[in-house]
Amino acid sequence: MSTLRAVKGMNDVLPEEISRWRRIEEAFWRIVGRHGYGEVRTPVVEPTALFVRSIGEATDIVEKEMYTFTDKGDHSLTLRPEGTASAVRAYVQHSVQNREPVTKWAYLGPMFRRERPARGRYRQFWQAGVEVYGDPGPFVDAEMIHMVVTLMRELGVEDVEVLINSLGSGDTRQRYLDALLAYLTPHRDALSADSQRRLETNPLRVLDSKAPEDKEIAAGAPKILDFLDEEDAAHFQELQDTLTALGTPFRVEPTLVRGLDYYSRTLFEVLGHGGELGAQNTLCGGGRYDGLVEQLGGPRTPAIGFAMGIERLLLVMGGEDAAPQPDVFVVIPHASARREAVVLLDALRAAGLTADADLRGGSTKSQFRRADKSNAKVALVAGPSELERGVVQLKDLAAGTQEEVAREEAPARARAIVFGENA
Ligand code: HAM
Repeated sequence: MSTLRAVKGMNDVLPEEISRWRRIEEAFWRIVGRHGYGEVRTPVVEPTALFVRSIGEATDIVEKEMYTFTDKGDHSLTLRPEGTASAVRAYVQHSVQNREPVTKWAYLGPMFRRERPARGRYRQFWQAGVEVYGDPGPFVDAEMIHMVVTLMRELGVEDVEVLINSLGSGDTRQRYLDALLAYLTPHRDALSADSQRRLETNPLRVLDSKAPEDKEIAAGAPKILDFLDEEDAAHFQELQDTLTALGTPFRVEPTLVRGLDYYSRTLFEVLGHGGELGAQNTLCGGGRYDGLVEQLGGPRTPAIGFAMGIERLLLVMGGEDAAPQPDVFVVIPHASARREAVVLLDALRAAGLTADADLRGGSTKSQFRRADKSNAKVALVAGPSELERGVVQLKDLAAGTQEEVAREEAPARARAIVFGENA
C-alpha cells in the first residue's frame, strides 16, 4: 500500500520550526495590539458566493484557484482563499457599525489557493492581516503601511520596498478602464494569450502580467494616476506626505493593480529582497476597498486592510530554528522508580519548570546522553535508593557539580539553578 502524504502544496510545520513562526506571530500581535486592533476569528469555510461576489468573478483566485465543494446539504462551500471577504461578512452580519464608528480587526490563519506550488507559493499558506472599517483615510492608510514596515524591521527584515498606487474611486476607475481598453485593443494580437483573455474580463490585470510581451505594451499604457479626480489625487498626495512624515520610504508604482476586484483608491505592496525569497517576493499586499461593505449588504463604509504571507516572511527573516528544550531532565536509573518519577516531574512542572524524562526507562548512560543532548540545565537522578531516603541527586549540568537534596526541595533548588533564583 502506498504511504499517504500531505496534499501537494500544503506543508507540515514541525516543532523545531515553530520558534520562528512564533516570533512572527508574537511580533504581529504585539504591534497590532499597540495600534488598538482586536483579534477576529472567522470560519475557514464560507459560502462560495461570498468570494465570487467580493474578490470578483474574473480574477485568478475565483476562476482557477478556489477549493470549492458541495457539502452533504447541497451547499456550495469554499475554503477561504483570503481573509478580507470573511471579515466583511462578519462585520455586516454582526452590525458592528452600530457599536463603534471605527473598527480595527486583526487575524492570523491558514488560507487556501490552488496555485502552482513554488518556493513561497503554497496551496495552504498562512496570512496575518488587519482590516479597518469606518475611516476613509488617508492618515490611517499611511499609518497601516508604516505599521507593516515597523513589523518587518522588528523581525530583522530591513531590505524591503514599499510600492503604492491609487486606483481612484467610482467614476475614475471606469474612465481609466475606458482609456486603457482604447489603448490595449489595437495591441491585442501582440499580447499573451492570458492577457488577451483578460482584455475581455479584467483589463487592469494586463498591467501586472509577468509576460515580457505584455510588460512592453503595459509600459506605454495610460497611467491611472493621470485620471484621478481632485479628491482622489488629494487623498493620494496626503498618503505620500504622511508616509514621508513617518520616515517610511516608498515608491509610487502606477502599474500596481493587485489581483482582487474590491480595491479602490490606496493600493500597496511590500516587496522583500534577499534571504531565500525567489520570484514570490511580495511579502504583503493590501489596499482600500471603500465599496465592499455596501456591496455585501452593509451600510456604506470605507475600509482598508492588508495581509502578509507568513511563509514568505520566514524565507527572508533569518534566525535559527530551535527545538523545545527542557530546563530539567529526570534520569530514572531503575524501571521500578518510574511511577515516582512521574510524580516528581509533576512537582517540577507545577513549580513552573519545563521538565522531561524518558519514561520508558532504559540505561542510565543513555538517559544522561539524552539529558545532555536536550540542553537541559539540570539533571535529577531519582533511583529507588534515593526515593527510599526521600532525596534526589541534582546535577548542575553546566557547572558539572552534583548535590543531594531533599525531594520536596528539588523544584526550588532546580529553579535556583535554571533561573538564577535564591533557593
Ligand atoms: P493577496 O495579495 O492576495 O491579498 O495576499 C496577501 C499576501 O499573502 C501576499 O502578499 C503573500 O505574501 C501571501 N500569499 C498570497 N498567496 C500566497 C500563496 N499561494 N502562498 C504563500 N503566500 C501567499 C489578500 O489576500 C488581501 N486579502 C489583502 C487585503 C486585506 N487587502 C485588504 N485587506
